[in-house]
Amino acid sequence: MMSAATYAMMAAVMVLVAGELAPPEKQYKIMMLLPVSSQSHKNVFIPLARALADRGHQVTILANSSGTFEHPNITEITHGIPQVEQANMFEYRNDWISSWSIFAEILPTFASNFYKVPKVKKLYERRKEFDLFMVDHGFNEVVYPFLHEAPFIMVTTPGIDYRQSAVLGNVFNPVYVNNHMSDFPRPFSLWHRFYNALYQILFALYWRNWTVVPQIQKEISAQFPELPPLLELERNMSLALMNTHFSIGIPLPLLPSQVEVGAMHCRPGNPLPQELESWITGAGSAGVIYFNMGTVVPAITMPVQYRDLFIEAFRRLPQRVIWKYEGELEDVPDNLMITNWLPQQDILAHDNVKVFITHCGLLSMQEAIYHATPLLAVPIFADQPRNSMFIRNSEMGEILLWEELTEDMIVDAITNIISNPKYKENIVKKSKLMRDQPVPPTELAVFWTEYVIRHKGAPQLRSPAAQLSWVEFLMLDVIFLLHLTVFFLYFITRRILRVIYAKIFSSKDIKKKKE
Ligand SMILES: *[C@@H]1O[C@H](CO)[C@@H](O)[C@H](O)[C@H]1NC(C)=O
Ligand SMILES: *[C@@H]1O[C@H](CO)[C@@H](O)[C@H](O)[C@H]1NC(C)=O
Ligand SMILES: *[C@@H]1O[C@H](CO)[C@@H](O)[C@H](O)[C@H]1NC(C)=O
Ligand SMILES: *[C@@H]1O[C@H](CO)[C@@H](O)[C@H](O)[C@H]1NC(C)=O
Repeated sequence: MMSAATYAMMAAVMVLVAGELAPPEKQYKIMMLLPVSSQSHKNVFIPLARALADRGHQVTILANSSGTFEHPNITEITHGIPQVEQANMFEYRNDWISSWSIFAEILPTFASNFYKVPKVKKLYERRKEFDLFMVDHGFNEVVYPFLHEAPFIMVTTPGIDYRQSAVLGNVFNPVYVNNHMSDFPRPFSLWHRFYNALYQILFALYWRNWTVVPQIQKEISAQFPELPPLLELERNMSLALMNTHFSIGIPLPLLPSQVEVGAMHCRPGNPLPQELESWITGAGSAGVIYFNMGTVVPAITMPVQYRDLFIEAFRRLPQRVIWKYEGELEDVPDNLMITNWLPQQDILAHDNVKVFITHCGLLSMQEAIYHATPLLAVPIFADQPRNSMFIRNSEMGEILLWEELTEDMIVDAITNIISNPKYKENIVKKSKLMRDQPVPPTELAVFWTEYVIRHKGAPQLRSPAAQLSWVEFLMLDVIFLLHLTVFFLYFITRRILRVIYAKIFSSKDIKKKKE
């Protein structure tokens, strides 16, 4: 998504931002494990890896892309396992059952190949050299063998993850905490509470108990018969670094072992390349619209009918439009610039950029809020609908649905977002809230990372709730006992009263008879 030059500049910024913490006691060896992750997941790790490396720690990253860093203290290792044919997410967007069941095919196959890759095998054999592991939570159960008898931190890149939170002993209440796919206006209606609770229970069971993890487990057990079960290993997690913040989400009841470090990758804008700068300022007071669908769903996979709707809509606008599009397009209007690489944060930071048309992935949403650019969300799948609903509910932008899309709707939505000042005002307010923190999130993440190493896994952070079964946690046994006690007391009391009554009445009867 970004060039090496941008990352180098980011590095320079990071050095300026960091530096409040006392120097570390020792240099540590840290391994970041994210073999199954998109570029956006990796983007969450990048600022943290760099900040740790700048403090002298040796960071090893096992992912599937390299060349991100030019840092003497960072080693990047790729596994090179081929990607299973990526489905066109535009086709899957209303079929979330299929879009999730893909993982039940991809992940077990991945697990059977992963440790056969020589580089991975070697790294696994060297695992005892490392002081800490950091795992991208979500799709990476395959790396759990690395975590055996070692301290580790989970990074929840997609924001709220109720499954991960429950492992730490903090079960989010589904009557007000949204799931990872959708959000609803608050307070939730009865139907939304019912749906949300059912969704969270069924999805967790599908992933962890019934389908995905059991199949990965089968592959892992075949290779490591002596290891405890994967979910048993996961329970030993020391800390979760969450890609959330209450200012850009909802306030959550969190444990000391859940630290909000949302938007670590957000940074002030840098000067734009000359050509982009003059295109943007050249738009004059009409301003510029920035259109980027992110890295997971390339714009080039967008069905032609949608693509043409956007192009025709842009033709009618007085604004200039910058579109990140990976292919060639013919007959585009003069006010449309098409290019396949763009420094997103530097563009969003520009005053003349008025609207950001986005799939509303979590990182893009965070960047838009950080740089206070109102959004027009066109969500496709995963957490994008949830993020979009948050944006609309907080009046920082609007949503368009693909199946209802028309040229007029695009033009009207953009015109409305630019002409109605509420969107800009709300997002400026949110941006201020998001930036108003005692320490930058990356520094917080560095502190807690070193803390877990310093305290050998920091068992003092562990909630006793994590040891309870769900029957115990939900007090089902206690409630059952309570009912039993009440029934017991009721019957005993009734018995005693009967005996007493019987005594009184029978003595009265005797008295009567005597008289
Ligand atoms: C890399 O780590 C060493 C110590 O291990 C440290 O002295 C050095 O400053 C670090 N390099 C950078 C570029 O931060
Ligand atoms: C990993 O990288 C290789 C080389 O770039 C690529 O061919 C492969 O599809 C990638 N695999 C995944 C799972 O992303
Ligand atoms: C659990 O974690 C601690 C440190 O975090 C480690 O010493 C211990 O061996 C781990 N146990 C298992 C079964 O991995
Ligand atoms: C699901 O699996 C976990 C971990 O193995 C287990 O503790 C839990 O009881 C299971 N839940 C149900 C409802 O079977």
